[in-house]
Amino acid sequence: MEMPRPTPLILLATSLLVLALPEPASCAYPVLIPVAKDPATSLYTIPTRDGHNHVIDLAGPLLWSTCASDHLPAAFSCNATECRHANAYRAPSCRIAGQPCKKQCKAYPYNPITGQCAAANLVHTRFIVNTTDGKNPLQQVSVRAVAACAPRNILASLPRDITGVAGLSASGLALPAQVAASHRVSRKFMLCLPRRGEGVAIFGGGALFLLPESSMGDLTTTLAFTPLRSRKDNPLYYIPVQGIAVNQVQVPFPANALTAGGVVLCTRVAYTALRSDVYRPVVDAFDRALARNDAKVPAVAPFELCYRSSMLRNRLLGYAVPDIALVLEGGKSWTFVSSNSMVDVNSQTACLAFVEMKGVKAGDPSAAAAVVGGFQMENHLLQFNLEKQQLGFAKVPFSSACSNFNFTKTQ
Ligand SMILES: *[C@@H]1O[C@H](CO)[C@@H](O)[C@H](O)[C@H]1NC(C)=O
Ligand SMILES: *[C@@H]1O[C@H](CO)[C@@H](O)[C@H](O)[C@H]1NC(C)=O
Ligand SMILES: *[C@@H]1O[C@H](CO)[C@@H](O)[C@H](O)[C@H]1NC(C)=O
Repeated sequence: MEMPRPTPLILLATSLLVLALPEPASCAYPVLIPVAKDPATSLYTIPTRDGHNHVIDLAGPLLWSTCASDHLPAAFSCNATECRHANAYRAPSCRIAGQPCKKQCKAYPYNPITGQCAAANLVHTRFIVNTTDGKNPLQQVSVRAVAACAPRNILASLPRDITGVAGLSASGLALPAQVAASHRVSRKFMLCLPRRGEGVAIFGGGALFLLPESSMGDLTTTLAFTPLRSRKDNPLYYIPVQGIAVNQVQVPFPANALTAGGVVLCTRVAYTALRSDVYRPVVDAFDRALARNDAKVPAVAPFELCYRSSMLRNRLLGYAVPDIALVLEGGKSWTFVSSNSMVDVNSQTACLAFVEMKGVKAGDPSAAAAVVGGFQMENHLLQFNLEKQQLGFAKVPFSSACSNFNFTKTQ
């Protein structure tokens, strides 16, 4: 069918209309996605389409899922921007990646738990999500995205109902950039990871209210900020950490222990992992500051310091234990109180929820000094601002939790 050619006047009118529209970033509501914790693997998952769930991966550069009949093939050429984004990072264990692209673009989806990877085609897909005003879901919308379509066998070790992985890194084909492009919101997202129940991920900025609403207001007003850094050869989020403090006293480390490998945030690990040259002084400082040898019980792997929980309990604050804080630039710190530092491994035993990195030499700068894991991030509001390269962080107040979002739709 032949379309009539628009007259110059209509063209002029439409271009004026386009110019008169507000900035794209301000014309759409942010996008809300509920986040659950898989109890068996401690991974965090989001629903994507009817009955399909994805694991979220803060260090993931791609969106990938098993191939499905409603995927539309995307034939990107080797020099397309999408193809460059798809191959911007190569997982060290993925030997097949990094082969020269011939004719059609391939991506190399990577299982963040097993390290397995596969060559995959790119497809066009959609996520069905709700928009939000930060208080309730508003309206169902569909977000267009480019994903890699992977063979089923690379799902090994992921939770049973999982069909793929949604990378949340700053790279061009990860979920934040794709939501921003498709839905015209800013390149910014918030994570509020739940310990149980449903937490939230909100893409595109805006506010966040959790019940009981009246007492707390918009939690983004409570955020403290620190730079969010990146390194060339990997998609990890780094934060500049100057020290670690136990009850406000800095733990002594060898010079540059923290800066050489850096401190990264990673939802692949359940508990914060410290390189052994960092781990040992932190655990010793905690042990000394707590000074409760009377309550100590044998270690429960992978944890070292474990206590009879009934002897540490404090009616108001959970466990009465020293705070552990990452000391940041400008005198700020990100503090983990007992709900983020002590884990109940059984009904009688609570352990310090930090683990020693395995298979890494003390001081090896090719390994991160600390990997902040899921348990420590839970019930914190984290705002990843990829435009300003800034991390906002705040502890959700004790009277609430990340699972207190009001998922009832506003009529
Ligand atoms: C990609 O390469 C083809 C030829 O190989 C060329 O025709 C096309 O213009 C290139 N596209 C871009 C975006 O550079
Ligand atoms: C949108 O919100 C409504 C109300 O909570 C919910 O029933 C529906 O499943 C949500 N849709 C998506 C795609 O999350
Ligand atoms: C949750 O939101 C709905 C819709 O706005 C509202 O009617 C309801 O009162 C809210 N629930 C609570 C506990 O505030």
